[in-house]
Formats: sequence, structure tokens, C-alpha cells
Amino acid sequence: MRFDTRAVHTGNEPDELTGAVTPPIYTSSTFAQAKIGKTKGYEYSRSGNPTRARLERAVADLEGGKFGLAFSSGLAAETAVAGLLGHGDHVLICNDVYGGTFRLFNQVFSNFGVAFDRVDARDPESLERAVKPRTKMVWMESPTNPLMLVLDIRKVAKFARSRGLTLAVDNTFASPCLQNPLKLGATVVVHSTTKYIGGHSDLVGGAVVTSDRGVYDKLKFLQNATGGVPGPFDCYLALRGLRTIHLRMRRHSENASAIVEVLSKDRARVAEVRYPFLKGSENYRVARRQMSAGGGMLAFRVKGGYPAASRFLESLKVFTMGESLGGVESLAEHPARMTHASIPEAERRRLGITDDLIRLSVGVEDPDDLVEDVRTALKAAVPVP
Ligand SMILES: Cc1ncc(COP(=O)(O)O)c(C=O)c1O
Repeated sequence: MRFDTRAVHTGNEPDELTGAVTPPIYTSSTFAQAKIGKTKGYEYSRSGNPTRARLERAVADLEGGKFGLAFSSGLAAETAVAGLLGHGDHVLICNDVYGGTFRLFNQVFSNFGVAFDRVDARDPESLERAVKPRTKMVWMESPTNPLMLVLDIRKVAKFARSRGLTLAVDNTFASPCLQNPLKLGATVVVHSTTKYIGGHSDLVGGAVVTSDRGVYDKLKFLQNATGGVPGPFDCYLALRGLRTIHLRMRRHSENASAIVEVLSKDRARVAEVRYPFLKGSENYRVARRQMSAGGGMLAFRVKGGYPAASRFLESLKVFTMGESLGGVESLAEHPARMTHASIPEAERRRLGITDDLIRLSVGVEDPDDLVEDVRTALKAAVPVP
């Protein structure tokens, strides 16, 4: 079956017991045992829960993977994947990654003896140069947060495979609807389901998908042993979100493209636009090969630095200023002072997360209202005689 049909049905099959078309939410923390150790597949909801199992199956299916695991947040999912590493191991972290991912390796796993280096995945030499005898994993995002770089997943996967490394790809920005990293050679895919999978800004969650049985067994162990599991209500919300992901992603992409066009034309006020499907950009060629549409995320640099950026954000009426992304409503934020403030300033500057950078999560409202909002706020932010 095709993606749109699977999005509606996988994990949402009618309840076997009653035929309920919307399956029940299993809130139980524990499950009755007929004899000691004789269960119906579930014993305690940290180790397994029927509603969570439905979500895990759905995310795995939509990513084209064999095994899925759901977590209480994207960072809990990342923590499980990083838990595959041990003392003395080394990770290559590609280009810009979500600030919380950097913090996880820089301030948490470094305390357990896991070392890392940052590499520019656009340059294969950079990966070769940075690899060490104890390198075990490559971690990447594409498109990246917040700079919207599109990294060639196939190329990085080829490198990882040639060195026997696990490749973890954070697919949060593209969603399983627009890009499937496992099909491009990744070992594991990570999601913050808080974003496009949930789709309505009403849950915090995470997921990991892999087709590697050995990796899955370790992650399943870590999920239970560290305990960062989602509650059944959040699993239900994520499952409900998935049923419309194909419709939402289409509209997110159309609306973002309309805004990209407006921003690209306003050269008096906008210094640079970053969007995977921006024709003529360095991203475009790779994006067309690995994504089916550009998605709802974009970033741009406003002329006039921080004062202009803050005026823009404060002038928006339809967009809400706020962190996070991937919901039906449009959001705007200032990465340097909001989502990526946990990255040290010098590192932010080196990466290009500067004070003129604005990130938009374009929602599914009427495109004309969004375009008008952006145009009006830009005019307020950068007066041009
Ligand atoms: C790309 C990306 N990965 C991971 C995360 C972390 O997810 P969560 O906030 O659900 O822990 C985020 C959060 O913004 C993100 O943007």
C-alpha cells in the first residue's frame, strides 16, 4: 500500500476485541497474569503498552523500517541511541544539529567518556579526517536545524558503511512523509514526534526506527532500562497526528514555498533565504534526490541585524513567536536567543547562527494570510525609503 493509505490505517486498525474503529487508549500501568509469567503480551507499561505498540508499528512502517520504539521526547529517543555508545567511544556529529542534541553529547555523554567531533558532512574529506579508531557512530540531521542545510544522506551512509559505523539520522524536519533515511542507508532514524508526527503542538514525544535486529534489541533494552517512555494519551495523539501527515506536509510545503518566493524577491530587506527546495541553491540538487517536497521549515537572514530581527518577530500577527515547530499553526523564532541558545556563542557564530537569522515553521493556514503577515512584518522591520 502507498504512503497516504498507510498513514491513515497503520497502527489505527479497528480494535480486535470490540471492533471500535478508533482503537481504545490503554491507560493501564500493569496487566493481569493468568499464571506466574503467563501474560497476553504485556506485563507493565514501561516495558510495553498496547497503545504505544500501535504507534511504534505505525512510525516504523511509515519510515520503511522493521522496528519502531516510542519515547517520552525526542531527546529521550536520542538518549537511547547515544546509549548504544560506551566509555571511550567517539561520535562524528555533522554540521549544525539541534541545540539540545549538541548539549546531550557536550554536557551529558561527555561525562560518561563518550567523545565527539563536529564535521562538515558536505566535505567527504572532513569525515575521513575526523574518524578515529574508537569512532562508532555518525550523527546527522537533514534538513538541519536551524540553518536548513541539506546533507547528502546517501553519501554519509556510504562513508559510515565503509567504516562499520552506525549512522543515526534525525528526520524530524522532513518527517517520514517527505524523506526516509533508512532507504538511503541510515542505521537508525530519530524523530521528535513533538513536531510533524504529532502535528498539533499538543504533545512531547520521540521515536526511533531501525531495520537492524541487533540495534533494535539494544534500543528496546535501553528503552525499558532507562524508562523514558511516553504515556498512552501522548501515543494516541501521535497516532492521530499520523493519520493526516500526508495532507499536512503537502500544505506545509506549499505554504512555505509561497513565503520563500516573497522573501527571495525582497532583496532590500532579506539578505539570504534557506529552504531545501529553493531553486538554484546548493541545497536544491541534493534535496530533490532525497526529499519528495521542501517541507514547512525555512530560515532567512533579515537585513539590519538583531534590531530588525526582533522588530520582524514582534510585528507578526498570524505567526506566533515561539519555540518548536511542525504544528498546524505557523511559528516564528530567533534561533540564536531561543532554540539554539544552549550552544556557546562562539560556536553559534562559527556555524552561522547569528543575530539576523530567523526560523519559520510554516503552518497550514491560508497562504495569502501568511504571505501578507510576512510582508507586513518585513516592512515594519526594515524600513526602505
Ligand atoms: C531536529 C530536532 N531534533 C530533536 C529535538 C528534540 O525533541 P524534543 O523537544 O521532543 O525532546 C528537536 C526539538 O526541537 C528538534 O528540533
